[in-house]
Amino acid sequence: MALQRSRLRDLPLILVLAAGMFIVASAGSVSEAGRVSEGGSVSESVSEAGRISESRQAQLPGADARQLWQYISKDNPYQSWKTFPGVPRYVHVAENPHGDWVAVYLNNEAADSIAYPANPFQMKYGSVLVKENYVLTNGDPAPQSPFTGVPVALVSLTVMYKVRGYQRVPNEDEWFWVMYGCTNGRCDGSVATIGDQPFVNEMIPQSKDTFAFFKGEVVAGKPWICIECHQRANLSNGFSFGDFVWKLKAWAPK
Ligand code: HEC
Repeated sequence: MALQRSRLRDLPLILVLAAGMFIVASAGSVSEAGRVSEGGSVSESVSEAGRISESRQAQLPGADARQLWQYISKDNPYQSWKTFPGVPRYVHVAENPHGDWVAVYLNNEAADSIAYPANPFQMKYGSVLVKENYVLTNGDPAPQSPFTGVPVALVSLTVMYKVRGYQRVPNEDEWFWVMYGCTNGRCDGSVATIGDQPFVNEMIPQSKDTFAFFKGEVVAGKPWICIECHQRANLSNGFSFGDFVWKLKAWAPK
């Protein structure tokens, strides 16, 4: 545990060192597709799978929790999007920090990325995946109309948004991650801080720590709590599509 904690603490330092090395290495050279150039701007060329037109990007929010909230709640309300392919709208997953039941919604870019997958698998720029996370309640009062036969409450929205060039260091993932908190089933776009969420005392999978390790972390941007787990979904296999996106699997009692 001690080792892991200190590794996590060292991460920002490692990233800074990596960034420094890249700037030295790339001085004077032409930046490659999708990379952040020396001055911090993003090169214009993008790979085929990630192609997004300038005009389309202009309609999309920046890598910013408030702009993204405006997009998913007002400009293009996520409830009208497609749901995750191959599973019912509401899925029993029992997966922390996501909750007992979830529903995942995909905007057109995200839905197309899965319906017509690139090889190797890559999500298109502009993809947004919104995940509603429900926990079981004792049912009184039930803030949610019951869809499961058991009373549940919507406790958070976890969102992934792929933004071209949204990297702190080269070769980093380009996802913007955010967890919006919901109170009594209502979400108002406020960004969650890891505090007393129902999952906080649960074990982090494949770790000796609980989620309490992340207490105090503001969950927007590149939160390690999201990346640490989702980076394992980088391969295309039975559990994941690739590019940090897991397949949605109904929970099966073991
Ligand atoms: C301990 C592992 C773990 C952590 C931590 C985690 N997730 Fe997930 N996430 C999953 C798994 C597994 C799925 C697939 C569906 C399921 O089982 O709930 C998933 C699904 C998702 C999805 C739907 C797209 C997909 O990959 O299927 C979004 C969006 C998402 N997570 C966002 C987040 C955000 C934002 C955070 C950080 C607050 C986060 N996740 C933290 C494991 C994790």
